Amino acid sequence: MWKSNTFTRRLGVSYPIVQGPFGGGLSSIPLLAAVSNGGGLGSFGAHYMTPAQIIELTRDIRGATARPFALNLWISDHDPGGLAFTPEQFSQAVQRFKPWFDELELPLPEMPQRVSERYEEQIEALLEAAPPVFSFVFGIPSADILEQCRRRNIATIGAATTVDEAVAIAAAGVDMVLATGFEAGGHRVAFLKPAEQSLVGTFALVPQVADRVSIPVIAAGGIVDGRGVAAALTLGAQAVQLGTAFLACSESGASPIHRDTLFSPRAQQTVLSRAFTGRLARFIPNRFIAEMELHQETILPFPLQSWFTAQLKKAATARHDPEFSSLYASQATPLLSQRSATALMESLIAETEQIMTGRRDSGFKMDNH
Ligand SMILES: Cc1cc2nc3c(=O)[nH]c(=O)nc-3n(C[C@H](O)[C@H](O)[C@H](O)COP(=O)(O)O)c2cc1C
Repeated sequence: MWKSNTFTRRLGVSYPIVQGPFGGGLSSIPLLAAVSNGGGLGSFGAHYMTPAQIIELTRDIRGATARPFALNLWISDHDPGGLAFTPEQFSQAVQRFKPWFDELELPLPEMPQRVSERYEEQIEALLEAAPPVFSFVFGIPSADILEQCRRRNIATIGAATTVDEAVAIAAAGVDMVLATGFEAGGHRVAFLKPAEQSLVGTFALVPQVADRVSIPVIAAGGIVDGRGVAAALTLGAQAVQLGTAFLACSESGASPIHRDTLFSPRAQQTVLSRAFTGRLARFIPNRFIAEMELHQETILPFPLQSWFTAQLKKAATARHDPEFSSLYASQATPLLSQRSATALMESLIAETEQIMTGRRDSGFKMDNH
C-alpha cells in the first residue's frame, strides 16, 4: 500500500507526494493549493520574505486550502563575508557587473543597507503562523526551535545531501528527512561539508539513508513521473518530493522564459554553478553563467552575489531573455510532460498505482514516449 505509511498518516495527506518549495518568488499559492487539494503536500519557499510577509502568506494559504501544507526556510542565511557589503567590495562588484548592467540598460546600483532577510527573525514569524509542516534546508534548527515546533504540532522535514547529514537530522529529533540527490534542480543544500563534496545521486543516497535512519525518508532529485516515484519508494523512501516538474506547471511563479526553456531542447544539459547566488545550484547553462565562471574568483559570497544578479534577472525576465535569467532545472527536465499541477498530480498517482500494484507485466512505458 504505497499510499498509506507513517509519512501520510503523520501529515494527514492522501498521497506521499510533496511539491518541493521554491525560493525567490517561484512558489505560488495556486500551485501549493492545487497539490494540497489534490491530496499531496504543497510547499512554499519563504526564505526571501520578511516576518510580516510570512504571517500574511500563511493566512492567504489557509484561505486557499484547508489541507496540510509546508512552509520552507533556509537555516543558514549567509556565507562567511556575505552579511553586508564593504564599500570596497561593493565598488569592485559594481565594476565587475557594469558591462552586464550596461547591456541590459540598467542604472548602476547604490550600496544597500540590508541585503536579505534573517532566519532568526523569520523563524519567530513561522512559529507564530504555525503551518502544519516546516521544511528547511542548509542546516538544522536549534533544539529549542524544534521543541517549539513539537509543542505547536508543526511537523518538521530536514534536507540531507549525504548520509552523514541525514543521520545528524535524525539525531536532532527532526520528524522526517528529505534525501536530495545531485540530479535535483536548485541549490545543493549541503551543510556539513562543502556542496562540491556533497554530490551523491538519488539512486545511491536514498537506500543508504533509509538503512541508517528510522524516521521517514522523502526522496528528491530527478523524479518527474510515476516511474521515478515507484523507483524511489522501492529504494526505501516513504514519499517523494518533485521540484522542477511542478515548477514547469502553469500555476508556479516561474517566468514565461524559464518555463519555455524547461520545455525546450536546451534543457538537455544542466550545470552546477555558483554564478547566480554564490552557492552551488543546478541550472540550464546560459551566457551569464559562462561569463561569470570565467572569473570564479570574483563571485561574491551568498547572498551578496544574489543581490546583484537579482537585478539582472528582473531586467532579463522583462525582455524574455534566457541569457541572464536563472534557469534552475533538474537533470530529468527533458522527461517533463505535464503543464498543470492538477494534471501532474493525477498522472503521478495513476502511473505509480499501476506500477506499484503490478498492473503492468514488465517495465513501464510513458504514454508520451
Ligand atoms: C527554482 C528552484 C528553487 C528551489 N528553491 C528551494 C528552496 O527555497 N527551498 C528548498 O528547500 N528547496 C528548494 N528547491 C528544491 C526543490 O524543492 C526540490 O527539492 C528539488 O527541485 C527536487 O529535485 P527535482 O528538481 O529534480 O525534482 C528549489 C528547486 C528549484 C528548481
